[in-house]
Amino acid sequence: MKGPSDMTTLAGKTALITGGGRGIGRAIARRLAADGARVGVHYGSNATAAKETVTAIEAAGGQAFVVHAPLGVRGDAEALWAAFDPQADGLDILVNNAGVLGDQAEIQDVTDANFDRVFAVNTRASFFVTQHGLRRLRDGGRIINIGTMLTRGSAMPASIAYAMSKGALDVLTAMLAKQLGPRGITVNTVAPGVIDTDMHEGRLVGDALTWVSSLSPMGRVGTPADVADTVAFLASADSRWVTGQWIDVSGGTLL
Ligand SMILES: NC(=O)c1ccc[n+]([C@@H]2O[C@H](COP(=O)([O-])OP(=O)(O)OC[C@H]3O[C@@H](n4cnc5c(N)ncnc54)[C@H](OP(=O)(O)O)[C@@H]3O)[C@@H](O)[C@H]2O)c1
Repeated sequence: MKGPSDMTTLAGKTALITGGGRGIGRAIARRLAADGARVGVHYGSNATAAKETVTAIEAAGGQAFVVHAPLGVRGDAEALWAAFDPQADGLDILVNNAGVLGDQAEIQDVTDANFDRVFAVNTRASFFVTQHGLRRLRDGGRIINIGTMLTRGSAMPASIAYAMSKGALDVLTAMLAKQLGPRGITVNTVAPGVIDTDMHEGRLVGDALTWVSSLSPMGRVGTPADVADTVAFLASADSRWVTGQWIDVSGGTLL
């Protein structure tokens, strides 16, 4: 993690991280703020975590503000931007990170309700947050979608609905990269492997942890910072010639 003395690369930029209060989103928020961005920390229900993230950023000398909007409901994108706009003058970096894993079930056991929920939060909300965000996003900006390694490998068939919902984001990345290239906006997907966060609800212990760790040739589970550091590259000017890409951040799990 960079410190305040390195705060230069994103100076003057404004970022919005959906689901920025916890887990991977928190690590992204903290890293982009450390790089100099003013960061909107969006949350859906955990206000405490979002405020803690803002406090930690400010304690490190950075700038951040909270944006509240539950996703996966009608009008979610409009509500998010209505909460964002009074606190910021436009946008340079949008990170579509908020997401849910849903029930772990193979196709025969996936319910309508679970399928709809996963798609409403992971796919539909990301789509409309981006749609409404485009008129705020300045030329030369960045869109980074947080996907999953599971769209290029089927190691976990019980994540079928989740992986499908993220597969749609991969298509969003490619289509938007083509459309927004003339504005100098890059659009990329970061595809993590298994990362130790609340999403796994305490399941990454014992034999399960041993098995998941063995999936990577590096022999461990990923950390939120592993993902945030790749996002920081894609948010920076250094990635200006990288667009429409799907970047594996799984410690080589798919090799
Ligand atoms: N952990 C992994 O192994 C892994 C692997 C690959 C990809 N990913 C992806 O990485 C992203 C972050 O995951 P994570 O592991 O950090 O998960 P997490 O610790 O469970 O955090 C999820 C975040 O998304 C937000 N969120 C979830 N549902 C929401 C809703 N309905 N409305 C608004 N916000 C909502 C949460 O907000 P609140 O704090 O308000 O609840 C929280 O900030 C997700 O898109 C996930 O699919 C994770």
